[in-house]
Amino acid sequence: MSAPTDPAAAMLAEVARIQADALARLAAAPDAAAVEGLRHEVLGRSGALTALLRGLAAVPAADRPTAGAAANAARIALEAAVTERLAQLTERELAGRVATEGLDMTTPGRPVRVGHLHPLMTVERDLREIFHAFGFEVFEGPEIESDLMNFELLNMPPDHPARDLWDTLYVAEPGSVEAGSPRPAEDGTILRTHTSPVQIRAMRALKPPIRVLMPGRCYRYEAVDAAHGFEFFQVEGLVVDRDTSLADLKGMVEEFARAMFGDGTRTRFRPGYYPFTEPSAAFDIGCLVCGGPGCPACGRTGWMTILGAGMVHPEVLRNGGLDPDEYQGYAFGMGIDRMTLLRHAIPDLRLLMTADLRFLQQFAGGR
Ligand code: PHE
Repeated sequence: MSAPTDPAAAMLAEVARIQADALARLAAAPDAAAVEGLRHEVLGRSGALTALLRGLAAVPAADRPTAGAAANAARIALEAAVTERLAQLTERELAGRVATEGLDMTTPGRPVRVGHLHPLMTVERDLREIFHAFGFEVFEGPEIESDLMNFELLNMPPDHPARDLWDTLYVAEPGSVEAGSPRPAEDGTILRTHTSPVQIRAMRALKPPIRVLMPGRCYRYEAVDAAHGFEFFQVEGLVVDRDTSLADLKGMVEEFARAMFGDGTRTRFRPGYYPFTEPSAAFDIGCLVCGGPGCPACGRTGWMTILGAGMVHPEVLRNGGLDPDEYQGYAFGMGIDRMTLLRHAIPDLRLLMTADLRFLQQFAGGR
């Protein structure tokens, strides 16, 4: 028997005392809160057992392993006892509720609500996937643009009449709103009206051969109705290489239409006008609603326009830092919103932006 002044023996005795005391109190703990309190008091950061372990340094080196092991064993035993007591109390509480509240443990649980992609984003992903297969990489530009990028470098100098095709939302000159006389920012900062400015950014950032897909949100000053929104999504495509021709553009959009709308899709390529492409084209598919004879959805023409396109204008290539005598390219742009309406036969564009779950939950399947 060691003398009571022996630090190792004193420690062993203290461990045993703490353990016995804690076990007794655990057995008597009336509820989970009492158990948690006790856990804190004994096993917590500044708990009794923790403090004791810190005192291990005072025990002679030869006795330290025995004393340490005893303290650790006590910790493990107490942790197990705490867990067990908590389980016991929870079970007892549940049993009590079954008795007093008629709680039915066999009732099915509440379904967990799992989110899903917005139908617009599903279409965007499909577009990314289709063009990925054609070798396009994704390149993104900012929604807040400069007049320079959105118009000027795309061959539309200030006062060019073609600017009327895009009703622009301006960012206000700092301070002008507060002063009660809002006016467009003097530095020409605007919300981009299309994804075409990203063409310039891509040409400046990448080296030909370039094959990029540029998706993103755009803004126009539109009176909102079933077919027009002030914010919408576009996907722009750009290909620049040494021998790129109109035939390549036509082949690409036709292949795309078949990948997107099915093998049998009828297509039509016809002249169009954009200041940043020359020649320009509009690309139609056979009406998805009536299939040809004409109906209200296609304006009784039998065709639906899905994208605008053309050969990149030499001036635009130059603005992108490329020599038009060395490189040619084609570009195309389409509306993701329109594509989504076509896919799901949705009658009103506004539904896509309302965040109405009754509408959105219909697209939980992903397509
Ligand atoms: N930016 C044009 C629009 O918003 C679409 C387009 C893109 C046309 C690329 C030609 C080439 O209407």
